[in-house]
Amino acid sequence: MKLRYRLLGIIVAIVITGMAVGFVLYVKDGEPAKFDNEIEHFKYGSIGAEVNGYPYVVWQTLPKLFPERAPQGWATFGFSYESGKQLPVGVSVRKYGIPRVGFNCATCHTSTVNESPEIILGAPANKLDTEAYLSFLIETSTDPRFTADAILAEASRNGDGIGWVDRLVYRYFVIPKLKTTLQQVAAENQWRASRPKHGPGRTDAGNPWRLHFQMHPELDNLVGTVDFPSLWNQQIREGSWLHWDGNNNSLQERNLSAALAGGATEDSLDHASIERVAAWSLNAPAPRYPFKVDSTLVPAGEQIYQARCASCHAPGGTSYGEATPIEEVGTDSQRLDLFTDELLKNFGTVGKGKPWQFSHYRKSSGYANQPLDGIWVRAPYLHNGSVPTLFDLLAPTAERPTQFFRGCVTYDPEKVGFVCSSGTLFDTRERGNGNGGHLYGTELPIAQRLALIEYLKTL
Ligand code: HEC
Ligand code: HEC
Repeated sequence: MKLRYRLLGIIVAIVITGMAVGFVLYVKDGEPAKFDNEIEHFKYGSIGAEVNGYPYVVWQTLPKLFPERAPQGWATFGFSYESGKQLPVGVSVRKYGIPRVGFNCATCHTSTVNESPEIILGAPANKLDTEAYLSFLIETSTDPRFTADAILAEASRNGDGIGWVDRLVYRYFVIPKLKTTLQQVAAENQWRASRPKHGPGRTDAGNPWRLHFQMHPELDNLVGTVDFPSLWNQQIREGSWLHWDGNNNSLQERNLSAALAGGATEDSLDHASIERVAAWSLNAPAPRYPFKVDSTLVPAGEQIYQARCASCHAPGGTSYGEATPIEEVGTDSQRLDLFTDELLKNFGTVGKGKPWQFSHYRKSSGYANQPLDGIWVRAPYLHNGSVPTLFDLLAPTAERPTQFFRGCVTYDPEKVGFVCSSGTLFDTRERGNGNGGHLYGTELPIAQRLALIEYLKTL
């Protein structure tokens, strides 16, 4: 009897220890990625988006298992690496059960220009194709090469140092669960089939919300695809009606809605971390134009700007921070039409019962008059990124290119924007991609337009 009790005691002790170890290893959440330096934090810190993120150990092996689909590793999808860094800019890792990858604000709000490795903080991520990245994750999960054996063998070669308990957990839990999760993700993303592909530098910021609110985006074909905006100098945007369609005048809500769209959940949002990025972004400087400016033309250009553009685009202008009605600005209306009264009502439920519950959304009647700081690197232009250069934007609609390539960072200082001979073809005739409207300045004689462009380089 005694021996049996003692044995039982030992077994119970082992089970409890095992559960405690299991709890620490798999159940207790890890610390978020945090950096003392605010710029490092912006680039690599965690905002709470890893909670449903792709398992890091498996993620590391994917480009090696599918080299034909990701020949340049994650850079294939437009992620940028800094030398000596294991993770691309904009990606953080945190343990939720197991280490998982997540996006942060730098994913979509940093870029590079030409061959320079310098990361331009706050610039729209011109090369990043989140849709191609998502397709890669979905499609590889059903590939016959996506097996526990292959993944774990590659992880060992990688030196990821996972032990035998981990290997069992990955083989019997993580990888099978990942496959079913990705099937679910594929089903949820059916709506993408009826929209033109985003291509690099853009994302549909509306339909994932409609999906979240069970508005069934798969049953219609409304397009919410927008160009990534810049994230600097937010101070001069505070209180303005912004987002491309001017639907929200609270900077805090714009920050939180971005984090939620980036993968965080209402409960996983890391408010302290987001506040740090938000505080940095208030005074983060717009990058200076790095090429030649013809300073003899600048004063004339500035005069034209003051007379024809400043009322909408310069802080203090009479309509600055308001939305220009669609009938007047005349650009593609899809993004505006997507934001319906029903969507508006649903946005009011985000954060229900929390101190930050959303309350600043509205249905606007057009697109927002935003400042043009750092405009040289915000190309392609307009909310849908349908006009490649400033030269083209100031040209009559008929002279704007119908098709052009996106996704490269080759800068054209003549036309002021990115001009590429290869990349992802952008067709302005596709739904949501219209390049008409915003005719301001297009009627000016060419010499005046060129002077205006010289001035715009200095903003
Ligand atoms: C997946 C890409 C992505 C990530 C990640 C992301 N953003 Fe954005 N952000 C966008 C897009 C796209 C828009 C434009 C949305 C619109 O207007 O329809 C935007 C808009 C914004 C705006 C409003 C800009 C304006 O004034 O009109 C702010 C502010 C912003 N983001 C801040 C952040 C912050 C802070 C984070 C991190 C917490 C973040 N974003 C993460 C893509 C992203
Ligand atoms: C009546 C208000 C108004 C005036 C005047 C105006 N704009 Fe705009 N501008 C807008 C609106 C609204 C948008 C956004 C349109 C869209 O994205 O569909 C915009 C967008 C832009 C963009 C693209 C911004 C980006 O990040 O892609 C540039 C560049 C621009 N305007 C330059 C000018 C210049 C130069 C002038 C003067 C010749 C001018 N605008 C006059 C309202 C105005």
